[in-house]
Amino acid sequence: MSQWAHRVLLVLALVLLPVLIARAAANAEAPAAEAFRLASTCPPSFEQTSSGACRLRTLYEQYRSVQGKGLGGTRTALPAHRDGFTPQQIDLGRYLFFDPLLSADGSISCASCHQPDKGFSDGLPRSIGVGGAEVARAAPSLWNVAFLKHFFWDSRSTTLEDQVLGPLYAPDEMANTPDNLLTALNANANYRNLFQQAFGPRPEGRIALDEVYLALTAFQSSLISLNSRYDRYAHGYHAALTQPEIEGLNIFRSFVARCAECHTPPLFTNQQVAVIGAPEPEGRPFDVGAAQTFAAEKLTGGFKVPTLRNIDLTAPYMHSGLFDNLRDAADFYNKGRGHAVPEGMNLQLHWHISSPDLTDYEVDRLVDFMRTLTDESLKPRVPERVPSGLTPLARGASSQLTKTTFQPGDPS
Ligand code: HEC
Ligand code: HEC
Repeated sequence: MSQWAHRVLLVLALVLLPVLIARAAANAEAPAAEAFRLASTCPPSFEQTSSGACRLRTLYEQYRSVQGKGLGGTRTALPAHRDGFTPQQIDLGRYLFFDPLLSADGSISCASCHQPDKGFSDGLPRSIGVGGAEVARAAPSLWNVAFLKHFFWDSRSTTLEDQVLGPLYAPDEMANTPDNLLTALNANANYRNLFQQAFGPRPEGRIALDEVYLALTAFQSSLISLNSRYDRYAHGYHAALTQPEIEGLNIFRSFVARCAECHTPPLFTNQQVAVIGAPEPEGRPFDVGAAQTFAAEKLTGGFKVPTLRNIDLTAPYMHSGLFDNLRDAADFYNKGRGHAVPEGMNLQLHWHISSPDLTDYEVDRLVDFMRTLTDESLKPRVPERVPSGLTPLARGASSQLTKTTFQPGDPS
């Protein structure tokens, strides 16, 4: 190397060295990542009791009857629901919900398929699990699951704690195993600390699976959506709905359309299984649905009546994601009873599935009305970081990290 080149190198080194040293020093002095702290107050709409538990408060408490007055009456009480969890349990559940650590390969979290910005669904006709596996059905919304008595499209589970075993351990969803999940959580100092905050000191400080299921249940039970424009109308504020929307509500409740017989206010589901004869998309095998759950042939093709809360956000629709917009889903009911039942199949269609012969105008009004059921005011905040250090929402769902409404003790 020439003398000249040596000199240039020397100068470069002299200029760069202080920069490098400063960098190294800054790194060494960087404060350790701030510790995770769980929220100590209840989410909005929940009241903290003297024992520290969060109790849901809603205007529907003023109504006595769960039957309502008349079909689809607005003055109908809510059914029993899950609450009574502590703020810490709810907030721990939030971290778990968004943490891909819960899946076998750290690639997806609950939120990958239940995205807050998509009504806690995923925008897909059928969900995609670990390694690109296609799940057989569409991801339902999680809004108001606190009120449900049955879970899954085929009603095969009766508690949220039992339901969660499905996604965690199904090979086509998160593909984990109980042992692997426990090992991963217990190996993580952040989680050991957070479970201590939520559940207090336990034998040897080890995390138990029941605590994982309980925390996820607590978080999901905080996803309450009962403050839509429809609700304001139901509580007496007439101007909350426009005239076309009120027309839609009246058609929805009418004995011609009969929607409210199954999609009963205020949850917009009566929580029962009904055979309505919604077809599978081309090339998909017929889904027997609840016939398998209850070993009852007459329920062949029967599915749990889904809530219509936040329905505008959760396309595509039906268990198989067949309809990609709300108008097609509503128009399905208008095309004649059993029009889509595969030839040769003898489904026992529910007696409220009729041929209402609605005009195009009336179907449009039904859609207008269903769009008034949107309320995301209690949408929880997506954590900017999760205890595992993985990316909170895998699979390009980064738009999730935008607007949020409440921020329980999020350190980041
Ligand atoms: C790979 C996508 C995927 C992941 C990941 C996933 N789910 Fe789901 N979830 C679904 C699908 C699809 C269904 C409906 C399955 C069925 O009915 O057979 C569902 C159903 C549910 C239901 C029932 C809702 C109802 O109204 O019946 C709940 C509750 C739920 N999931 C919670 C969770 C939780 C908690 C996690 C994380 C531990 C999770 N899910 C992870 C796709 C997913
Ligand atoms: C007999 C009970 C029943 C009646 C009456 C009924 N539905 Fe449904 N509805 C269901 C069931 C069950 C499903 C789910 C079916 C499936 O996935 O195959 C459903 C699904 C839907 C969906 C898709 C929901 C989602 O999350 O994917 C919409 C929208 C809907 N119904 C609107 C209506 C409207 C509008 C009316 C009145 C014209 C109506 N329904 C009448 C039982 C009923």
